[in-house]
Amino acid sequence: MRTVETELLGVNGVSIQKAAMLLRSGKLVGIPTETVYGLAANACDADAVAGIFKVKGRPQDNPLIVHISGLDMLADVAALVPPAARKLAAAFWPGPLTMVLPRGKAMPDVVSAGMDTVGVRMPSHPAALAVIKAAGVPLAAPSANLSGSPSPTTAEHVKEDFNGRIPLILDGGPCQVGVESTVISLVGQPTVLRPGYITPQQLQEALGQEVKLSPTLTRPLQEGEKPTSPGMKYRHYAPKAELTLVRGSFKNFEAMMEEKRAPGVFALCFEGEQGRLPVPAIAYGIEENAVSQAAELYAALRRLDDMGAHTVYARMPQTQGVGLAVYNRMLRAAAFREIEV
Ligand code: TXA
Ligand code: MG
Repeated sequence: MRTVETELLGVNGVSIQKAAMLLRSGKLVGIPTETVYGLAANACDADAVAGIFKVKGRPQDNPLIVHISGLDMLADVAALVPPAARKLAAAFWPGPLTMVLPRGKAMPDVVSAGMDTVGVRMPSHPAALAVIKAAGVPLAAPSANLSGSPSPTTAEHVKEDFNGRIPLILDGGPCQVGVESTVISLVGQPTVLRPGYITPQQLQEALGQEVKLSPTLTRPLQEGEKPTSPGMKYRHYAPKAELTLVRGSFKNFEAMMEEKRAPGVFALCFEGEQGRLPVPAIAYGIEENAVSQAAELYAALRRLDDMGAHTVYARMPQTQGVGLAVYNRMLRAAAFREIEV
């Protein structure tokens, strides 16, 4: 249903003020961050936050991340800031790291989907920081995509999903990181709930303490298993096409694609491989460079949908460092289908 005219504005003093004014009056605004675009609302306004769930079609039990522009805002968001959180904030904020902390009183239930914890992060994108500062309130912001579709890394992606549903999108250009923030729980033993650009190794070094990896980063939830992060339950980041990850050499991949070749069958490969494959192919970054893969993955998934792909075979990303984040998103996009050739 289209109800409003959606404006797409470049980032400047005037558009920042406009975004802040809309946010203060309970409206939703698409904003750039260094990871992916966010669909922002005033985190202290329960009705505005409820609007995010409605517009995204987001399951009611999946909590949102609250974005702050300075440590002074943290006191409103979190009830307690343990020394480990101070260390990580000093090392990685502003930046692509979300910490799960005990929830503060100013945060309505709906932000945390009723949980007694809250995810909080200070983004490094100058436009995101400027909007939060101008609004003067913390902003709840999930990725600005319809629930289940690939996260948006350009303002155009946000428009594809929300044209006519939100009044304003700020266009800050393509996102540098390209995958969502690393989420670490600091309630109990430090545990990575979602891998991202900030790696487990970096977190461990900054904390001087062991960091656990949630076992569900690279496998599905098992029957009856309780998720540590509700987001783990849902099929995520998924293109419309059926995606399968393919472990093995390029030579074997090429041979397999020769057999699979049919209308609607596409490959998701690395830069430079497209012309050597017998099917239409889209690249997601450079084989040896996980950072480039993170930056390009979601746009590549959207492009496959635009081209009408119904079956996609993907070259395996690395699985360490930033590669773990890429692998985690691709596994979910593939509903955990992975084969070896
Ligand atoms: O990079 C990002 O984090 C982007 C940009 C916009 O900042 N935001 C984002 O939000 O990815 P979203 O809503 O798409 O993902 C939030 C994830 C979900 O997997 C959710 O389950 C988890 O964080 N999460 C949020 N609050 C949590 C909490 N209190 N406990 C456990 N997991 C939480
Ligand atoms: Mg999301």
